[in-house]
Amino acid sequence: MKKHNFYAGPSILNRGVIENAAKGVLDFANTGLSVLEVSHRGKEFQAVMDEAVALFKELLDVPEGYEVIFVGGGASLQFFMAPLNLLGKKAAYINTGTWSTKAIEQAEYVNKMFGTSIEVIASSEDKNFTYIPKNFQVPEGIDYLHYTSNNTIYGTEYHKDLDCKARLVCDMSSDIMSRPVDVSKYDLIYGGAQKNLAPAGVTFAIVRKDALGKFERSIPTMLDYNTHIKKGSMFNTPPVFPIFVLLQTLKWYKEIGGIKALDKRNAEKAQVLYDEIDRNKLFKGTVAAEDRSRMNVCFVMNDEYQDLQDEFFKFATERGMVGIKGHRSVGGFRASLYNAMEIDSVKALVEAMKDFEAKH
Ligand SMILES: Cc1ncc(COP(=O)(O)O)c(C=O)c1O
Repeated sequence: MKKHNFYAGPSILNRGVIENAAKGVLDFANTGLSVLEVSHRGKEFQAVMDEAVALFKELLDVPEGYEVIFVGGGASLQFFMAPLNLLGKKAAYINTGTWSTKAIEQAEYVNKMFGTSIEVIASSEDKNFTYIPKNFQVPEGIDYLHYTSNNTIYGTEYHKDLDCKARLVCDMSSDIMSRPVDVSKYDLIYGGAQKNLAPAGVTFAIVRKDALGKFERSIPTMLDYNTHIKKGSMFNTPPVFPIFVLLQTLKWYKEIGGIKALDKRNAEKAQVLYDEIDRNKLFKGTVAAEDRSRMNVCFVMNDEYQDLQDEFFKFATERGMVGIKGHRSVGGFRASLYNAMEIDSVKALVEAMKDFEAKH
């Protein structure tokens, strides 16, 4: 039976990407060696790194003056690296859920160390992070405004770049390359690659070079963006295999028409599923309609059908749905529709919801 992979991350990769990754595991670039056992300093892997950086820039239309790096440590390390490198005096943060909260916590460490400050200028915590805050004042003279573009756990998303005068820093872990982004508004975009790009283990950062080194601070070598920029992400051993797979994903993105095509695919997929959630009497969405994420679709049983939750889970599982359980802090269901997911899998889930409704 075909499995429909709705995991939130690590998550679905395109089948062709996995096949290319498998080929590289057996024989990498005609070296007679596996990509798992070659030096990151060899010319074959250097070519992979160069092409991955170039394609990443091309696909996202990254302007001059920015560098793309691939490092370890996850988005969670970026929560600390971002303020360590960019917070000179004061920054603003928007809190839209667990990951933003963690980013705020890490910035507080920087505050304690260097006497800087951050202000949380908006939050949706009052309604359990079920919406994106809209009306807030951005203070003058801040170093940056940090936000999380897609809230993987709660299923809310900014559908456009935040419109404000401040320089932006954004965690795009769970919606990178799902829609066009105006990179020039950002000093930093970062994220774990394990949702839309690659298997777990590699983190991307798009850094505006002029935003670095603006104030005197002694930054430990591995935590300094300049270290990784100057050494082309090869200061230390990079996550070789995840970067190799990342390149296969980027090639596939280019082949199918780039970000524009992905944007269209994602709009269609999300529409199909949200339409069914709104139509089906057994289910309801959990977040404000205008802020619904296209990447992580969260829903629950309607009030009078709460006791059917486990039964639906079993019903869907028997039809090949994998990973639709909501995050433990939210409950219900979450279907992640990342870039690699085909619309047929979304339709299979919708069919299951319809057939389950017909049964009850
Ligand atoms: C939006 C967002 N930010 C950050 C993280 C943490 O990423 P990592 O596990 O790579 O540290 C996640 C993980 O799911 C996420 O969804």
